[in-house]
Amino acid sequence: MSLILGIESSCDETAAALVTSDRRILAHRLAGQESAHRPYGGVVPEIAARAHVEILPALIEEVLEEAGIGIGAVDAVAATAGPGLIGGVMVGLLAAKGLAFAAGKPLVAVNHLEGHALSPMLAEADLAFPYLLLLVSGGHCQLLFVEGVGRYRRLATTIDDAAGEAFDKSAKLLGLGFPGGPAVEKAAALGDRKKVPLPRPLLGSDEPHFSFAGLKSAVLRARDSGLYAPEDIAASFQQAVVDCLLDRTARALAGADGATALVVAGGVAANQAVRGALTALAAAHGLPFFAPPLWLCTDNAAMIGWAGALRFEQGWVDGLDAPARARWPLDPNAEKARGAGVKA
Ligand code: KG4
Ligand code: ZN
Repeated sequence: MSLILGIESSCDETAAALVTSDRRILAHRLAGQESAHRPYGGVVPEIAARAHVEILPALIEEVLEEAGIGIGAVDAVAATAGPGLIGGVMVGLLAAKGLAFAAGKPLVAVNHLEGHALSPMLAEADLAFPYLLLLVSGGHCQLLFVEGVGRYRRLATTIDDAAGEAFDKSAKLLGLGFPGGPAVEKAAALGDRKKVPLPRPLLGSDEPHFSFAGLKSAVLRARDSGLYAPEDIAASFQQAVVDCLLDRTARALAGADGATALVVAGGVAANQAVRGALTALAAAHGLPFFAPPLWLCTDNAAMIGWAGALRFEQGWVDGLDAPARARWPLDPNAEKARGAGVKA
């Protein structure tokens, strides 16, 4: 059994957690920065990085205090080393390096996407490799065949916007506020999902990928038409996203031989309509379905500590020269999707 301090700072959540390799979360802290970014309607990288500098040390102290241990009791320090907003990544990674150096502990540089990809296993002892994973967050929308720790085959990605990005941009267009995903979900609950005709990009396509940019433009046109209430546009938009995610995941499932489960992770996995649709899809394929509890879907440090623990148990530690990476694909061998090249 190993005990890992996990640190997360790749976007606008500052977080620290103490996690063991046998799935115990001894303590975790998360400080969102919504109010700092709200006036700008999105995350401002410079503000985020400065906030991490101010908040992170106190969170680390708090988790150690709550667990009643000193840094000397941990086996390794794990931090997100990318992908993400580079200023923030540098803050968390450098904090981890300082702690690791001072305490004489190994550093584990964790890929944020690996944190999301393995997070369902932290919550569910029954989930085993290999599984088909829909990873849907603010920066990414991918289908991955997860074969083991460090072994990811990317089956699909987005050719333009990520699913969470589409939620955030649509929320902004509809004046629903920030952060966008939860705001759209709340508004959608009051609307009619069949009211506004919206496209389903790449639905039924032979290529495996996702696309959401056209849907966002259609939301803009629906808004400007003046014909629809924002709640109806939100509900229709959410349904269109769900239809796309479901269609693409069903296509991948058909070719994912050997998958023992269907799994969803990342911020958009907190959406109840997404979870509901995937539950039904898994059942139709006779597969178990796993989705982390809501707080483990959105960014947090427990998933980074957990991924760090699994890597540490394999003997995979990193030097103090580990780089901070704005882009860091989970599957370096994945072919570029049409029109892509900018997303990790
Ligand atoms: O995983 P995450 O916290 O950060 C990234 O790694 O990107 O995901 C954040 C994304 C945002 O785009 C946010 O709007 C979306 O997840 N999100 C949601 C919901 N909660 C968060 N999207 C739809 N419905 C939600 N309930
Ligand atoms: Zn994330």
